[in-house]
Amino acid sequence: MPRDEIQAGPSPNRQYHPVLTGQVALVTGASSGIGRAVALGLAAAGADVAVNYVSGPDAAEAVAGEIRGLGRRAITVCADVSQEAQVQAMFRDAIAALGTVDILVNNAGLQRDAPIADMPLADWNTVIGVNLTGQFLCAREAVREFLRRGLRPEISVAAGKIICMSSVHEVIPWAGHVNYAASKGGIAMLMKTLAQELAPKRIRVNSIAPGAIRTPINMSAWETPEALGRLLDLIPYKRIGEPDDIAHMAVWLASDAADYVNGATLFVDGGMTLYSAFAGNG
Ligand code: BGC
Repeated sequence: MPRDEIQAGPSPNRQYHPVLTGQVALVTGASSGIGRAVALGLAAAGADVAVNYVSGPDAAEAVAGEIRGLGRRAITVCADVSQEAQVQAMFRDAIAALGTVDILVNNAGLQRDAPIADMPLADWNTVIGVNLTGQFLCAREAVREFLRRGLRPEISVAAGKIICMSSVHEVIPWAGHVNYAASKGGIAMLMKTLAQELAPKRIRVNSIAPGAIRTPINMSAWETPEALGRLLDLIPYKRIGEPDDIAHMAVWLASDAADYVNGATLFVDGGMTLYSAFAGNG
């Protein structure tokens, strides 16, 4: 098949069943990219949503407006997830406005790329602070709320669900991105340890590990045909991922259909973790 046809291949549709009716989701980093798609997907599946952002209130408001257009409640909440007081204030505001939180999507994340010899400590700290410490701080507040509220069997068979946005780089080393890869490797054990600790409380904790998804964070990897061609060499399924590929997984993981899924990392990567260089080699 010519490469053009491969690149234009089908991406998922936006049909969601109302499996999350009556639930409240808080999605961090929800004003763009994967977070935006997840917030809209959860809303389409019936959830009310707190849309977290750290800069650009207009984009966050636009997402909240789309969610209200779907007939759901939505608020925007500004917080830097690496800052304890801001995270606590965000949860207070979300719970005051929407009643509780049933689903946390720990999505906020960033990259500050450099070879290690050139990497300032500040860039290491920023990436670990947002990508890893941010997930700890948000998970802690969510768990406190899940335990306070307890089970509502008419709403969900679980007391709460946490979805950690990881990456294929929780298993694939990534030269020139040591801070990012270390943060995602950390998320793997953060998630599994919380899943083990919290399962007896009927709180489910899982990760989604996206591959290359077409968002602003990796624009340089897909904005030219040459870059996209090199990227597709890493993806056996021969198309770049779309934010809705991740949203579909988040809706399912948050729903009672996934009630027996605990402590899992679900790779949504078109096969990027299959070591495609070995297909004709080794
Ligand atoms: C990174 C992207 C990258 C992808 C696959 C993601 O976690 O944020 O920049 O394209 O992994 O390498």
